[in-house]
Amino acid sequence: MRVITLDCAADIGRAAGEAFVQTVLRKPNAVLGLATGATPLPTYAYMADACKTGKVSFKDVSTFNLDEYCDLPKTHKNSYYSFMFENLFSKIDVDPDNVHFLNGNAPDDRAESARYAAEIEAAGGIDIQFLGIGRNGHIAFNEPSDRFTNDAFKVQLTDSTIEANSIYFDDVPMPHYAMTMGIGSIMRARKIILVATGKSKAEAVRAMVCGEIDPHCPASILKAHPDCTVYLDPDAASLL
Ligand code: PGA
Repeated sequence: MRVITLDCAADIGRAAGEAFVQTVLRKPNAVLGLATGATPLPTYAYMADACKTGKVSFKDVSTFNLDEYCDLPKTHKNSYYSFMFENLFSKIDVDPDNVHFLNGNAPDDRAESARYAAEIEAAGGIDIQFLGIGRNGHIAFNEPSDRFTNDAFKVQLTDSTIEANSIYFDDVPMPHYAMTMGIGSIMRARKIILVATGKSKAEAVRAMVCGEIDPHCPASILKAHPDCTVYLDPDAASLL
């Protein structure tokens, strides 16, 4: 795990965005693993700008998002599907047929997990995966637990996650369940970029970087990945 501290979120967005751009320049049909939340926004802004200025084209890439809420229509403004179109896909030349999401409303979550795993495999596996980190050390919606997960599954969200994300919900209650890629699916990505900004992430970052590999801090598994770069701002790095 390479840990790099930069001055601010905008600098991190440039560095992380450039990692995605370089991946696509080297492999125009790259498979991108994407995340939602506040953390990726500067990275997505950089990618959108690189596309707008003609530095890179995303027309042949495929994308797979990490997670999606259950019991929320796909087209609701708070779905991760809507988030991605609003913040990235409408600003780059990606083919909408090549963007993939877990279906949080699938009637059979095991079948949905198998479908997603098969689609990732058919696309050739994820070349570069973006990750944020939760205040409780979660990655995607892999909440702290007694064991590491493998493929995608349906998860009950913890109070910490509900508290952090419910600020975005103003018309319906925040869902308490989500479909999420598992730790195994994330660890199979060839390259991982994790970004953490702000004081609220400092404790989780300390546990991830300095603690043992422990499913009670799911992000700690990333120490076992052969190509994982962590970008931090000074606040997120303050307990290292
Ligand atoms: P955030 O979420 O980017 O909104 O802080 C990150 C996460 O929970 O993984």
